[in-house]
Amino acid sequence: MSDPKVIGILGAGRVGTAIARRALAAGYEVRVASSRPAADIALVLQFTASGAVAADADQVIAESDIIVLALPLSKYRSLPAGALRGKIVIDAMNYWAPTDGTLPEFEGAPSSSEVVADYLDGARLVRSFNHMGYHEIDGDARPAGDPDRRGMALAGDDPAARKAVAGFIDRLGFDPVETGPLASARGFAIGTPVFGAGLKRTELKSALRIPEAA
Ligand SMILES: NC(=O)c1ccc[n+]([C@@H]2O[C@H](COP(=O)([O-])OP(=O)(O)OC[C@H]3O[C@@H](n4cnc5c(N)ncnc54)[C@H](OP(=O)(O)O)[C@@H]3O)[C@@H](O)[C@H]2O)c1
Repeated sequence: MSDPKVIGILGAGRVGTAIARRALAAGYEVRVASSRPAADIALVLQFTASGAVAADADQVIAESDIIVLALPLSKYRSLPAGALRGKIVIDAMNYWAPTDGTLPEFEGAPSSSEVVADYLDGARLVRSFNHMGYHEIDGDARPAGDPDRRGMALAGDDPAARKAVAGFIDRLGFDPVETGPLASARGFAIGTPVFGAGLKRTELKSALRIPEAA
């Protein structure tokens, strides 16, 4: 595919608007939807991600090259699986029972993204952005080559989707660290040592046991 230009974000909360702000700063067009009418979100975006366009979910999905899932995981079954088929989708959602409630399908699941991928059959799902707090997405982005630049892990079964997401991460201000197929996202799931650790690329690779040359 040609370089992604439009980023769609489902979820207008802390993570969704942080990614929206970074994407706008990086020169992307940004569309955002939540479960509310577009007019309500437009009002919020004026203050949280000025320049992002509010739309309903179907429009966001249809018009975007990459779609970011930044809604509560407890709502994943409201996602329009048919519309997301064939789309590059970044799953930033984590399972956290104290806020999501107990969801049996995620209890003991190796990585929540594998469950989400089963539901979103045919989507080109890449897990990323889940191991970094929203305030770090905002505050820790750095230009390429900056010694303080953080690493951002990503995993997915579709190599072309991984490549597109790696480019997106790089433009947002982080060093992409590809871990491999979706199952490898277990290595940076909630509760792992890298989760929330704020590691640089080499530190993240070492923690994930990825050879430096890879
Ligand atoms: N907070 C963090 O630092 C952080 C970091 C990494 C990953 N995450 C993960 O990212 C996800 C979002 O976290 P958050 O902290 O951004 O939550 P949040 O601030 O509560 O925002 C969630 C957003 O999703 C929207 N939403 C709810 N149901 C929706 C639906 N069916 N379709 C589309 N949008 C919907 C909500 O708006 P309405 O209810 O008005 O629709 C709200 O805008 C969670 O899975 C979380 O585990 C969070």
